[in-house]
Amino acid sequence: MTVLWSRADLEAATSGRFPPSSAVAIAGTGVSIDTRTLQPGDVFIALIGENSNGHAHAAAALAAGAAAVVAHESCGDDPRILMVDDTLAAMQGMARFARARFAGHMLAVTGSVGKTSVKDMLHAALSACGPTHCAVASYNNHWGVPLTLARLPAASAYCVCEIGMNHAGEIHPLAAMVRPDVAVVTTVASSHLGLMGSRDAIAREKAEILLGLPQGNGTGIVPADVTGAEYFRRIAELMKARLLWAGHTPDCAVQATDVISDTQGSGFYLHLPEWQGVARVNAPGRHMADNALLALAAAHAAGADMGRAVAGLATFRPGAGRGAIAKVMHDNVALLDESYNASPASVRAALDLLGLVATGRRIAVLGDMLELGAFARHEHASLLPAVRANADAVFCCGPNMKILFDSLPPALRGAWTPDSSTLAPLVRTALRAGDTVMIKGSLGSRMRHVVAALKADDARVGPA
Ligand SMILES: Nc1ncnc2c1ncn2[C@@H]1O[C@H](COP(=O)(O)OP(=O)(O)O)[C@@H](O)[C@H]1O
Ligand SMILES: [Mg+2]
Repeated sequence: MTVLWSRADLEAATSGRFPPSSAVAIAGTGVSIDTRTLQPGDVFIALIGENSNGHAHAAAALAAGAAAVVAHESCGDDPRILMVDDTLAAMQGMARFARARFAGHMLAVTGSVGKTSVKDMLHAALSACGPTHCAVASYNNHWGVPLTLARLPAASAYCVCEIGMNHAGEIHPLAAMVRPDVAVVTTVASSHLGLMGSRDAIAREKAEILLGLPQGNGTGIVPADVTGAEYFRRIAELMKARLLWAGHTPDCAVQATDVISDTQGSGFYLHLPEWQGVARVNAPGRHMADNALLALAAAHAAGADMGRAVAGLATFRPGAGRGAIAKVMHDNVALLDESYNASPASVRAALDLLGLVATGRRIAVLGDMLELGAFARHEHASLLPAVRANADAVFCCGPNMKILFDSLPPALRGAWTPDSSTLAPLVRTALRAGDTVMIKGSLGSRMRHVVAALKADDARVGPA
């Protein structure tokens, strides 16, 4: 296994010190912040969380085979404990160090929705071209990004980071840490609108990812119909970056034409500045075709062999809760599981997807979209046209979805309840063989309870 962290590199990256008398050699092959998932050989960083203190687990980490522990509170006198001023700052130091010694192509993905999908598509496409390091899950914040970089093997050909935000000011420092050669913006939509104030403010924030590009030598890839295009143009100009607009019209440098969508996915003809050819993504829905367009354009900008990248993308599958389709209730009902999260843009995309893939009745199960603040009423009510176009019956839970539910024509009203646990049995009872049911809501709306209720019998029967 590749050694990521030697004793000297750890000390240099963190400005920390092992005990003076300790001469033990360190060969960290991974980085961990959680002893429950720690692998032997990992460097364990004792972070302070909201409800936990990693220092309490230092001894357990060493017992489980950690190569070293990075700490700022005293947690024993083991020679493998590296003392630093602050463990989060130390992890950020490791991130900068690992970034500096990496000579491959660095890609960063941000946006209101679609970050993880594009990151995973890039992972699939680039892995076919060379060793690719990628963020785990949605590790996109002040600890997820540095953890991803701290784990980056210097010899990788590609690294893909996801950069997220809930508040203004979060993107720029993360972009400066990642220093991408290629930056992708998936969407600017009203996720976290309550905290950000306006779509314009969200666009301004997302555009700051371009500040991480190298002067005169970076590429930004942005949807042509993005809100606040002028912010992207302005920062690209400042960084002397190549800005590629992605869309469906001939004036776009990155263009998809002849898009054919079916229940399995989408095929399209891809036009890039120096490459053209047929591409396909095996995830249904227009939004997934848009994501694939961005991912392939980014792979090309990072120097990937496009024949391989296109073939690699074919191995991408939508993740759990992000559009994966399963048969439930003894194979009688198709379940479109979108329960992972929700924002206005992704609920509209999921409703379109329901309309696209359903063959029988189309049932939408919707929980509240959170973090919309004063915009909540308007954003929930504004889903009505998408619901009318794509659903035959609608089940809702949560105070905000009540607004949508009450505006529905009576024929579309399934049921409304205050929370997902009380809604689950009502949905179950209403479903009939041949139905397709789409379940979506913010993580805090716990729509996974409805998913679990529909999967209950199948779990007892055993795996399909
Ligand atoms: N381009 C897009 N437009 C609208 N919705 C999307 C898009 N890409 C993904 N989604 C939907 O948004 C939700 C979150 O997707 P994900 O890729 O995890 O985004 P993020 O990492 O930005 O939260 C999923 O339900 C997914 O189906
Ligand atoms: Mg994500």
